[in-house]
Amino acid sequence: MRSLDDLLAEGVSGRRVLVRADLNVPLDKTTRAITDDGRIRASLPTLQALREAGARVVVAAHLGRPKGAPDPQYSLAPVAARLGELLGTEVPLAADVAGEDAQAKAGQLGDGDVVLLENVRFEAAETSKDDAERGGLADRFAALADTFVDDAFGAVHRKHASVYDVALRLPHVAGRLVATELDVLTRLTRDPERPYVVVLGGSKVSDKLAVIEALLPKVDRLLVGGGMCFTFLAAQGHGVGKSLLEADQVETCRRLLAEAGDRIVLPLDVVCAPEFSADVETTTVPVESIPDDQMGLDVGPRTVEAFGRELGGARTVFWNGPMGVFELAPFQAGTRGVAGAVAAVDGLSVVGGGDSAAAVRQLGLDEAAYGHISTGGGASLEYLEGRELPGLAVLAD
Ligand code: 3PG
Repeated sequence: MRSLDDLLAEGVSGRRVLVRADLNVPLDKTTRAITDDGRIRASLPTLQALREAGARVVVAAHLGRPKGAPDPQYSLAPVAARLGELLGTEVPLAADVAGEDAQAKAGQLGDGDVVLLENVRFEAAETSKDDAERGGLADRFAALADTFVDDAFGAVHRKHASVYDVALRLPHVAGRLVATELDVLTRLTRDPERPYVVVLGGSKVSDKLAVIEALLPKVDRLLVGGGMCFTFLAAQGHGVGKSLLEADQVETCRRLLAEAGDRIVLPLDVVCAPEFSADVETTTVPVESIPDDQMGLDVGPRTVEAFGRELGGARTVFWNGPMGVFELAPFQAGTRGVAGAVAAVDGLSVVGGGDSAAAVRQLGLDEAAYGHISTGGGASLEYLEGRELPGLAVLAD
């Protein structure tokens, strides 16, 4: 896989370079303001290096999951503004993805200038299952530049036109973020220093089963919290009241628990409430006695202590998924406690993507205390599952 440094060594001054970045940031539902700009900041090293080398930079990115047609609520306009602030230069936003305006704006770039294309998912072909459809769009992307840099680590598990097909059409290299992410994930998969402890949370156990299966033989402990823990607790025979439960996964969880022995560690207590709301009265109960009319929305203090003990002795930690509904104050303590224990690890600590990375920042925790905060949620999990990621495979050719 060629690197950005290989490309810079060739000289890029005056060349048009298409950079696929993952600028899929969370927006406030009413104001559309960016609530966590971590992914935009993570894209800066590659963009700065290209600008400083005099490249004419065309950035392609997605935001959310629009339905394959322009939709103002998914416009990259707020992202263009924030990217411009962080780069210290104006970043115009093309009115289309790879149409007339994109062509015109890319053609007008001076050395070191940057333009952002509109949300690539405004084109149905971007995510199409049909190779020819994606190829048609990829041809239009390829016409915008003469070199492709993939720096969208968070999207490398997607076989999309701007991630995969365009790399078949242009000379390509991996950007700095992709290189850093791969470096860290390789350290997790190849001979991690032990004890190796993985913490998984988040809402759906079905999303995590594949990674649990893949990780179980490799880890010393797998700590399970978040909404997904209730399916495991049900598999242990506990009543879980109104908590999130994937009844069709109970049997699989029972098998995993039997196979794992004491390597899977489940919560001891949970914070419950009759409903999901910020000003509701909460009770903390042992997992054996979750009331029928209540739902578990966070792990409790005894769990944080027990998870903390496991993490305290670890030399390698990967954490993906919040322990509870941390967006609401009464249900933050579990995620905050686990985040603190992961930060204190004496060894390599990796926060895997999406919600857990957002939790670290939204809870005001010190990002520098972690070995690495990944920008890829799904991408890092699929990497750890050992799956081939199309966006990486194509860069290796
Ligand atoms: C992410 O948020 O994990 C990436 O940006 C990929 O987004 P997607 O799951 O909508 O493809």
